[in-house]
Amino acid sequence: MNTKHTFDRLDFRKALGSFGTGVTIVTTKASDHRLVGVTANSFSSVSLEPAIVLWSLQKTSPNLSAYDDCGRFVVNVLSLSQIEHSKRFASTVPDKFNGVDYALGIEGLPLLKGCAATFECRTIQRLDVGDHILYLGEVEAYQHQDQTALLYVQGRYAQSASAELQPA
Ligand SMILES: Cc1cc2nc3c(=O)[nH]c(=O)nc-3n(C[C@H](O)[C@H](O)[C@H](O)COP(=O)(O)O)c2cc1C
Repeated sequence: MNTKHTFDRLDFRKALGSFGTGVTIVTTKASDHRLVGVTANSFSSVSLEPAIVLWSLQKTSPNLSAYDDCGRFVVNVLSLSQIEHSKRFASTVPDKFNGVDYALGIEGLPLLKGCAATFECRTIQRLDVGDHILYLGEVEAYQHQDQTALLYVQGRYAQSASAELQPA
């Protein structure tokens, strides 16, 4: 292994990508009532009691003000059947919700149907960190279903494989 002390952006991203994650679409509602959503794998759980989660959004996002103004967000954890949703919400198509099934949750924020889980959150802290804004949210309601979760690792979509773990 070759230790690096200078950071080439692409190479650093590649190194970070070796950490596998799930895939979420974080939704909110803009002040003009337009529905907004962004594919994000920066989601993480932080605290069980109180229930707090986090995610981060790049500062260049045209939707940053929607998340700031609303003060709420919904984390939709994608199931394996929702790869097309992931691609759609990672793109710049003008109406990302076109053809996507959703219900309205607390304060009219969209909950995508067919997800493995959804977490309805109230933003409790917004931190300016480098080239991203980090949002911490208190979970006010959640649901989950027995769906196989979509995974993402090394720049590719993936699915879980059962492995025989040896006892320690
Ligand atoms: C699997 C995956 C994970 C992503 N995770 C994030 C993330 O955590 N934060 C982020 O700002 N962008 C993330 N992106 C990129 C955004 O989805 C993409 O830039 C999208 O265009 C943002 O939508 P917007 O332009 O409407 O803001 C991710 C993309 C993919 C495919």
